[in-house]
Amino acid sequence: MSGAVSIDGARQGDRPERPTLVILAAGRSTRFGRAKQLEPVGPGGASLIEYAVYDAVRAGFGRFVLVVRESQQDEFEASLTPLRAAGLSLSFACQRLVDADLVPLPPPGRVRPWGTGFAVLAAAAALPRQTPFAVCNADDFYGRVAYERLAHALAAPPAGIRAFAATSPLADTLSAHGGVSRGLCEPGPDGTLLHMTEGLDLRLDGVAARAGDDAESPATPPGVIGRTASGAAVRVDADSPACMGLWGFFPVILPLLEERFRDFLAESPGIEDEFYLSEAVGNLAAAERTRCGLVPVGPGWMGVTFPEDRERVADSLRRLTEAGAYPVDLWTPHVRPEPLRAAQASLFGPPQAPPGGIATAPGRINLIGEHIDYNGLPVLPMALDRHVHLDFEAAGQATVELEGDSAHGSFAFRLDRTIESAPRGHWSNYVRAAARGLLDHGVGLKRGIRGTVTGTLPEAEGLSSSSALVVASALALLHANEAEVEALELAALLARAERYVGVQGGGMDQAVSLCGKEGHALRIDFGPLRVTPLPVPEGWRWVVASSLTRAEKAGAVRGLYNERRAQCAEALERVGRTSWPEVVEADEDEFASILARAGKSLPLTLSRRFRHVATEGRRVIEAERALRSENLAAFGRLMNASHASLRDDFSVSTQALDKIVGVALDAGAAGARLTGAGFGGCAVALCRANRAKSVIEALIDRFYAPRGGVDRRALFVADAADGATVTSGGGVTCRD
Ligand code: GLA
Repeated sequence: MSGAVSIDGARQGDRPERPTLVILAAGRSTRFGRAKQLEPVGPGGASLIEYAVYDAVRAGFGRFVLVVRESQQDEFEASLTPLRAAGLSLSFACQRLVDADLVPLPPPGRVRPWGTGFAVLAAAAALPRQTPFAVCNADDFYGRVAYERLAHALAAPPAGIRAFAATSPLADTLSAHGGVSRGLCEPGPDGTLLHMTEGLDLRLDGVAARAGDDAESPATPPGVIGRTASGAAVRVDADSPACMGLWGFFPVILPLLEERFRDFLAESPGIEDEFYLSEAVGNLAAAERTRCGLVPVGPGWMGVTFPEDRERVADSLRRLTEAGAYPVDLWTPHVRPEPLRAAQASLFGPPQAPPGGIATAPGRINLIGEHIDYNGLPVLPMALDRHVHLDFEAAGQATVELEGDSAHGSFAFRLDRTIESAPRGHWSNYVRAAARGLLDHGVGLKRGIRGTVTGTLPEAEGLSSSSALVVASALALLHANEAEVEALELAALLARAERYVGVQGGGMDQAVSLCGKEGHALRIDFGPLRVTPLPVPEGWRWVVASSLTRAEKAGAVRGLYNERRAQCAEALERVGRTSWPEVVEADEDEFASILARAGKSLPLTLSRRFRHVATEGRRVIEAERALRSENLAAFGRLMNASHASLRDDFSVSTQALDKIVGVALDAGAAGARLTGAGFGGCAVALCRANRAKSVIEALIDRFYAPRGGVDRRALFVADAADGATVTSGGGVTCRD
């Protein structure tokens, strides 16, 4: 988003898929006294319309439609010549009191335009049918961030949302010089608009009290008072969301607006009554005819309602220009890169948080290569089509506040150098681990995240839900801070970071969660970390079956796992070898002699651990060959050997896992083994597609039925999925 935008960039702007910005400039500016929309306010003489167009071009808008009164069109055309000269697609729509279709006869005595809702209808003919559009007021300055956020929201609208209202806290939008009109938003529990009313003559109630108005008692907390169009008094919290006339829409809104306008006319409006866009959208939302997302755009907004406001706006624009956020002349052929956010920070406080999003990270099954990643040996997992989802927004301060389901509850912590751990076993430790890993890596985390964690990945089942949470948290924090770390580097740092929870794990889980590829297993090599996607042959199926025993990494498994890791290191050292790859890559004879020597020289437990690691390392290499040559039987045999080794030499299987493996093989699976660290969790069976049903049925009959049944979380056919992603949510506060 940052960087130079040249006028060449703007020229490309009229590609049809880019959104259009409709600028409402037909107001009568009665209080202001002049055509305030064209008033020069920038240090180079640019008007607020020009700033709106300039910011919108940089946010990706490609066309501009100005809604003006017929009598003013020439004046606007002349004044905006430099924009056309700069190659922008600019057109005009006239707002008249009479409209051939909607208002065929002039309404007697009416001079006042019909209002903002009608102004949007006036622009309809100039709007492309398929692309979304935004609407703004010509006499407001919203700033680049507001257009960026709206553009994001329009690019990726949550399901069912076809309208967006940009909002700021009401108190930030008032004028010290008199009452103003704003759309007062009432958000519903899911964050979308429940209702909106146009508030008129809005001002802080303290001001009203001093002026002798009928304000409430001084003991009342600060609020904003005003009235509705029908004259009813309103009082709302100063920090409630207000819409200052910046909107995003999909064209489906137009027939709905038209319908509302016809209803408005049917109610015989008085000659001063207006058809407000805010009320029209508010009514459509209240009647559940449309869902409208709220897009908080922060405090960058500045409006010119009164002549006195102009000074403040001009002064701010001068400072933004001096700070490099805007060139003096907006329409010179080339515009320098500008530290816009820094400039805004100096004017409006801390940098504005970028949009939130949804970070999605998959779990994994390991096909073969168990308990060898931490020994530096390659493994062969695949990412699962089951995920942890972190739906987040960037927080202004450096705190992380997340909420899980009712079983997990919520937590918060600050992002400082010494992120304290929560008590052992608490889920927040995985999020803390991610944050700590990023900080230790030198990633500045100035902003935190707020959000909700949900998902489709069963926990404590050996499917790596904890690493998926670490990965999703890291991606959300990076996104919130507009920072990037290359995927393999991130996987490696997160593997180190996850040890913060006390398990001295290897690097398989984080790497596959980040780098997984749909339809592929991954060969993961360590030292340095590398991934090689290997296609899973058509017709191979992986049946995943839970042993119904939790394998909690931070619980009982932790000690057993760490013990195994230490035993491996000791065994290797005692046989006088310096690395496991050196053992595994030895030729046949040498390998046999190493194993024989280890068997003789090591105590029984260590010699078994040694044998598991050494043979499992070789099985992975053979399994890769079997996968590449689509030899299902060979792959299955290697899985069986792996399970036997994990059971007998590494002692990480359980009776339930052994039973699942046995049942699956009896039912025709080509191979089956425990997957993940063991001590409970899941087994995976490989079979041909036409055998999957009988394997599943046998497992239900012989394993699950006697244990009280099964659900889809415990027994399923896994597909190899892509790695983790962040989908930008555009700062939209609504949730689906
Ligand atoms: C856990 C660890 C991995 C790996 C497996 C066993 O999932 O996080 O690094 O060691 O156990 O293969």
